[in-house]
Amino acid sequence: MPNRYAVILAAGQGTRMKSKLYKVLHPVCGKPMVQHVVDQVTELNVQEMVTIIGHGAEMVKAQLGDTSLYALQEEQLGTAHAVMQAQSMLEGKDGVTIVVCGDTPLIKAETMEALIKHHEDLAAKATILTARIDDPTGYGRIIRNENGLVEKIVEHKDASDAERKVNEINTGTYCFDNRALFEALKNVNNHNVQGEYYLPDIIEILKKQGEVVTAYQTNDLEETLGVNDRIALAEAERIMRKRTNEAHMRNGVTIIDPANTYIETDVVIGQDTVIYPGTMIKGKTTIGADCFIGPNTEIDACEIGSESVIRQSVAHKSLIGSHVNIGPFAHIRPESTVHDDVKIGNFVEIKKAVFGKGSKASHLSYIGDAEVGSDVNIGCGSITVNYDGKNKFLTKIEDGVFIGCNSNLVAPVTIGKGAYVAAGSTITKDVPGEALAIARAHQVNKEDYVQKLNVRK
Ligand code: UD1
Ligand code: CA
Repeated sequence: MPNRYAVILAAGQGTRMKSKLYKVLHPVCGKPMVQHVVDQVTELNVQEMVTIIGHGAEMVKAQLGDTSLYALQEEQLGTAHAVMQAQSMLEGKDGVTIVVCGDTPLIKAETMEALIKHHEDLAAKATILTARIDDPTGYGRIIRNENGLVEKIVEHKDASDAERKVNEINTGTYCFDNRALFEALKNVNNHNVQGEYYLPDIIEILKKQGEVVTAYQTNDLEETLGVNDRIALAEAERIMRKRTNEAHMRNGVTIIDPANTYIETDVVIGQDTVIYPGTMIKGKTTIGADCFIGPNTEIDACEIGSESVIRQSVAHKSLIGSHVNIGPFAHIRPESTVHDDVKIGNFVEIKKAVFGKGSKASHLSYIGDAEVGSDVNIGCGSITVNYDGKNKFLTKIEDGVFIGCNSNLVAPVTIGKGAYVAAGSTITKDVPGEALAIARAHQVNKEDYVQKLNVRK
């Protein structure tokens, strides 16, 4: 197999996005566009990948890390000028170079693989990935001669009325003979409406030199979407969402309403899990088999076991076991660990809390900075008082404890194994194991009170 190289164009500001955030860093299904592109290119096993950076260079580098080499394009003088920045890294090497724009997040490795194959089969010096689309506005048009062979690419802004009628477009992904690419780049000028050095001009240059230039047309139109504004961004999001959801459904996940289910690309879900509408599953979340998630649930960066149910709830950066029942309307805040068979019921918030196996907080509780053992029952309305206005303190509730309703556990405090806390208590001192703690005022009944009130009238 010939050597393979890749150049990813990611230096542009993305003026049409009207954003503080550089275009290629805008997320599609939670992942920056350029990261989607790099992830796909990585599957091609290229020897060297060079990302051209300029606007937001440091942020793009921080995003992609050392999967790529970088070349800085200080001034954005056009896509040919961008590729030229990789000259010192790639010029003179034998092999095939694939060039991809950082703003085409839907491009697939398999399509680039087919493009490279087409290129090699035809022994071409350049091959363009093209597509026929209904509305080609804004894209470069593929101009073919009377024999159907590619002659050149004309940018929308430079195109004549006749050329604008052409609906075969340049997707912005190309394959070149590496040596020919860097030779031809030297001949690109900026004599066009935008005063830019256009990469697509390479096609006409090579063609005039009598080289073989071909096009590989993909039928997957969705893949070719170039994101220049927020309308295209939403479209890319919709397509990526559909693609991701369909992959899960093919793997045996039931998604009741895929159009209203938002699953980011790195999420893993087990077989026979059912996802209800309005659910967002983000980050590196894994969910086991046979779970029920949603409706209207947000899960970010959680690891969830099997046969768990999470309804109308929010869970972030936490570990959640199997056979767990959460919600409706529960909030699992970061750094929590919920072991198997736990129940976290309605209007319960937990934060940085460990819940041992089989424990329950069924209604209206706040449990923060706490270690809860196994088989603990936290009664309705009970809370940990973890914060004195300056510092946070730990509450320890050992195995088998029963906390009566509406108790305040003022941390730091430990409730010993098997102890009881009477309803309505405000616990400020440790409770020994097996004890009953009552910390509330004695009840006083004023007999015949109403009668006395009536006498006074
Ligand atoms: C480009 C193509 C067009 C094609 C379309 C497909 C050119 C001149 N036109 O147009 O034929 O149909 O993509 O989506 O190439 N960039 C740099 N440095 C620069 C300029 C751009 O790195 O100096 C990067 C951008 O960050 C972006 C990519 O190159 O990721 C494409 O640039 P963009 O301005 O979006 O080109 P289009 O007008 O979409
Ligand atoms: Ca573009």
